[in-house]
Amino acid sequence: MSAGSAAVGSGRRDNPSASAPPMLPPDPASPVGPDPNPTLPRSGSESYVLRPATIADLDEIWAIEAAVFGDDAWSRDLMREELAADHRVYLALVSDSGVVVGYGGLLAVGADGDIQTIAVVPGARGGGHGRRLMEALLQAAFQRGVREVFLEVRADNPVARGLYDSLGFEEIGVRPRYYQPGNVDAIVMRRTERGRE
Ligand SMILES: CC(C)(COP(=O)(O)OP(=O)(O)OC[C@H]1O[C@@H](n2cnc3c(N)ncnc32)[C@H](O)[C@@H]1OP(=O)(O)O)[C@@H](O)C(=O)NCCC(=O)NCCS
Repeated sequence: MSAGSAAVGSGRRDNPSASAPPMLPPDPASPVGPDPNPTLPRSGSESYVLRPATIADLDEIWAIEAAVFGDDAWSRDLMREELAADHRVYLALVSDSGVVVGYGGLLAVGADGDIQTIAVVPGARGGGHGRRLMEALLQAAFQRGVREVFLEVRADNPVARGLYDSLGFEEIGVRPRYYQPGNVDAIVMRRTERGRE
């Protein structure tokens, strides 16, 4: 089903995080543009591993969250709650020198999963890390019995939409003017366990 052909309701089914902020905070209009925060870690020649994120990573993850999402970033308290909450899988992308350069989170309850958030520091983008994060979150979801994974993405974020499309997510609806200010639509996407059918 293409975007816009189905209206998605005001809430998500079986989503116990309904009181939490939007699953994916609004993101910059040009997520692969000039580095907005040169103090964030850069990729250089380092290699990276994925590992579970813990509360001990809060400072580094929060720094990335605040720099990447700006005014729309989750609060530090919410990020702390997310890292500690039940039914969550949070992964950290860590350089070989131990610096967190990205993270992603999944909510998995029963047969439904939601990608809560994902971000890679500007200096490490374009190297396949966002894809690795997403693939690991999907694998974690399906290992837990999830059958469908949902997410929301700004309509004006072609990089993320391209990534999700290439991973088999399909657009199932639109939440008009979901991201404020700016009146930017949220595209709701779904990936089934079997992928595109
Ligand atoms: C979205 C994000 C996590 C992708 O991370 P990344 O490490 O740069 O992504 P990858 O290198 O794994 O690339 C994955 C795909 O993204 C798309 N992509 C990456 N860079 C792109 C660019 N410059 N232009 C267009 N598409 C691009 C492509 O589809 C790419 O797949 P391909 O390499 O097979 O062509 C990262 O850009 C980011 O943190 N953006 C800001 C936060 C954000 O937008 N989060 C998502 C909110 S919904």
